[in-house]
Amino acid sequence: MSKEKVQIFDTTLRDGEQVPGCKLNTKQKLVIAERLDELGVDVIEAGFPISSPGDFTSVVEIAKIVKNATVCGLTRAVKKDIEVAAEALKFAKRPRIHTGIGTSDSHITHKFKATREEIIERAVSAVAYARTFVDDVEFYAEDAGRTDNEFLAQVCEAVVAAGATVLNIPDTTGYCLPEEYGAKIKYLRDNVKGIEKATLSCHCHNDLGLATANSIAGVINGARQIECTINGIGERAGNTSLEEVVMILRQHPTLDLDTNINSRLLYSTSRMVSESMGMPVQPNKAIVGANAFAHSSGIHQDGVIKNRETYEIIDPADVGVTESAIVLTARSGRAALAYRAKKVGYELTKLQLDVVYQEFLKFADRKKEVIDQDIHEIMHVCKITEAR
Ligand code: KIV
Ligand code: ZN
Repeated sequence: MSKEKVQIFDTTLRDGEQVPGCKLNTKQKLVIAERLDELGVDVIEAGFPISSPGDFTSVVEIAKIVKNATVCGLTRAVKKDIEVAAEALKFAKRPRIHTGIGTSDSHITHKFKATREEIIERAVSAVAYARTFVDDVEFYAEDAGRTDNEFLAQVCEAVVAAGATVLNIPDTTGYCLPEEYGAKIKYLRDNVKGIEKATLSCHCHNDLGLATANSIAGVINGARQIECTINGIGERAGNTSLEEVVMILRQHPTLDLDTNINSRLLYSTSRMVSESMGMPVQPNKAIVGANAFAHSSGIHQDGVIKNRETYEIIDPADVGVTESAIVLTARSGRAALAYRAKKVGYELTKLQLDVVYQEFLKFADRKKEVIDQDIHEIMHVCKITEAR
């Protein structure tokens, strides 16, 4: 039986692009949008059309070229924002307006200087107005992570009645614990009248390094959309990382959930976004970091050479990485040296390996990493010629 699908809502071009110093031009955004469509994301949040003429143009052009995904534009719960977003999305095959307002006491008191009743009124008017332009309207309750569940449920119920098709529950400040965020989603599922008419969506920030864990807790408790970015980029510590949630669902069949993502494009998409944004990917980043499939200690290398699965839970090919890397360092053992030597053309006997290994250790103590060229030099010192 096929697994239930979790929709992937990619916000690399909106929330992701809010990273300081990472502004993309329209041409760069189009290249990324085309790739996201090919990757299989269900929704592309293309921008915040009222925020600038450049963002407006980008949303218009993205809406024209995207073939499969829904194209979404962000707005505040403000009429003019909604009109501009509707205009920007007019060429989209599947347009979605993403409107919303802050619902936590802190947002209501300090940002809006309003009452809870006024917030509900503004939320309902925004959703109803957006529905006059498009059939697909997503509502976000900004700072839902710190909004009390009872009030959040009231807001959700009101906007679903006004026509919201998706309910976005953002942990805007990355504050929640996974249990807490999961319980919030469950509470809404159990207490919002009409909830079956809308999809619950997780939108988690990574301030405490919990964005991915919280999004997974959300889908375990009934959410069916995850909002995320390539490489987890975004404001402050970033958003939920797309590649992480996709591979978590794929590696855990007992969850009985999957996405429409072609995971073999994950690595190249990660590089593409990193290069065009000028944002390097940290080497130890899960799934797409340079070290995600690299093994450097002797015990691990020996295990992986005997059987990849001893120290790898993902086949690198499944995310578009050609093969696991056996990195030679002073912590490497004979098995790794023999493996790498063979790759560059030296079939060593046990006796030769003993000699070469001593020479290798001298090299490795001087260098952080022993590369192919060094292996040739070590062989030269040990007077061993290539087998082929
Ligand atoms: O983090 C957040 O609350 C957001 C909303 C605007 C959706 O990005
Ligand atoms: Zn956000």
